[in-house]
Amino acid sequence: MQFYEVQPSTSVAGTVRVPGDKSISHRTLMLGGIAEGRTEVTGFLASADCLATLDAFRAMGVGVDRHAETSLTVHGRGLHGLSAPAKVLDMGNAGTAIRLSMGLLSGQRFESVLTGDSSLRSRPMERVAKPLRQMGADILTTDGKPPVTVRPVATLSGIDYLLPVASAQVKSAILLAGLYAQGFTTVTEPAPTRDHTERMLRGFGVQVETDGARIRLQGRQTLTGTRIDVPGDISSAAFFLVAGSIAGSGDYVIENVGVNPTRTGVIDILKLMGADITVVPRAAQGGEPVADLHVRRAELRGIAVPESLVPLAIDELPVLFIAAAAARGETVFTGAAELRVKESDRLAVMADGLTRLGVGNELAPDGIRIEGLAGTGRRLGGGEVESHGDHRIAMSFTVASLLADAPIRIRDTENVGTSFPGFVATARACGLQVEER
Ligand code: S3P
Repeated sequence: MQFYEVQPSTSVAGTVRVPGDKSISHRTLMLGGIAEGRTEVTGFLASADCLATLDAFRAMGVGVDRHAETSLTVHGRGLHGLSAPAKVLDMGNAGTAIRLSMGLLSGQRFESVLTGDSSLRSRPMERVAKPLRQMGADILTTDGKPPVTVRPVATLSGIDYLLPVASAQVKSAILLAGLYAQGFTTVTEPAPTRDHTERMLRGFGVQVETDGARIRLQGRQTLTGTRIDVPGDISSAAFFLVAGSIAGSGDYVIENVGVNPTRTGVIDILKLMGADITVVPRAAQGGEPVADLHVRRAELRGIAVPESLVPLAIDELPVLFIAAAAARGETVFTGAAELRVKESDRLAVMADGLTRLGVGNELAPDGIRIEGLAGTGRRLGGGEVESHGDHRIAMSFTVASLLADAPIRIRDTENVGTSFPGFVATARACGLQVEER
């Protein structure tokens, strides 16, 4: 088992580039695969999660030429051009890959079976299967989890669906099935979630209407191959936003980060805590706003995090818990029960790690209260924490070393490569003393 040994450090500085956006990278393969003609992708995230999607689409007959680590050509097969995979589609650790594929595969003329690693096999799939069955899809889950079998049906019909949870994966799965359905498919969100699917569909020439919380598309539209330059992933940038804010000194820039407003909750929450972050816009890429982010050290203060920001920072909450540990006073997160069904139970796993390192906290069913260290005269104790194979937990506790006075050992770190290949090198280059063992 791999682990990280992180020595305490106090300053971070430099210019950082983070790899391409994971959500957008998955979608370039899926939409490119069912488009007519070629899609040229640059800035692609060549991480384990996205490579699982690449493998799955290749297994369904989609040609993908990889020119370099991050640039590729997807040879689209058209809406009805995918072929039956000769194997079970193994989506590894990737919730986006399996859930969006369930939607897309509901409209195919062949049967497919989707599975994943032990973490993915413990995650809920009925939230996707249920609305897809309402559209006429034939889907079997295993006690609500993967493996999932998607069988062909004669027709799918559009539905008007109110999402019970704010989930971009469920929304996207329904919209992708909607491409194969008769009539209109409408999804209403209880709160805004990332809208990369809607934006990218438009880039492929599909008409998608958005009216407040309602998103609507008509089925059987043609996607036309396009060019997509994937921006840096704000979820990966988040570790450096927090590091720059809580370090004893330092000043740095994270270049070329996607700042789609459905993803920037981490910036909003950090600013509410007093962070010094400047967003310097660059030209948009692939229908997505992009910016350089300038970060300076700041005295963070505890806050009650507005629940409306939670879905907009859902993947960044673990590292925001580290920001909360650095702050003066208490920070309270509520409305975050979704964290319990991510790659790990991120509320429980973060609470356990914070406790082991001496940070006072109290778990709730839908959140956590964290006692900040600033003004207490205390620092984080060192010790060993378990990541439970969750990439974002491992990276969050690496950032915590900026608050520590003794080494932190983080267990089970292999899965960092599912979202952030090169994390250790990037973290070391800006001053974090992390070693992989
Ligand atoms: C994602 C949506 C989010 C997020 C995940 C990626 C996506 O999940 O946590 O990492 O690409 O659509 P939910 O939609 O389940 O909240």
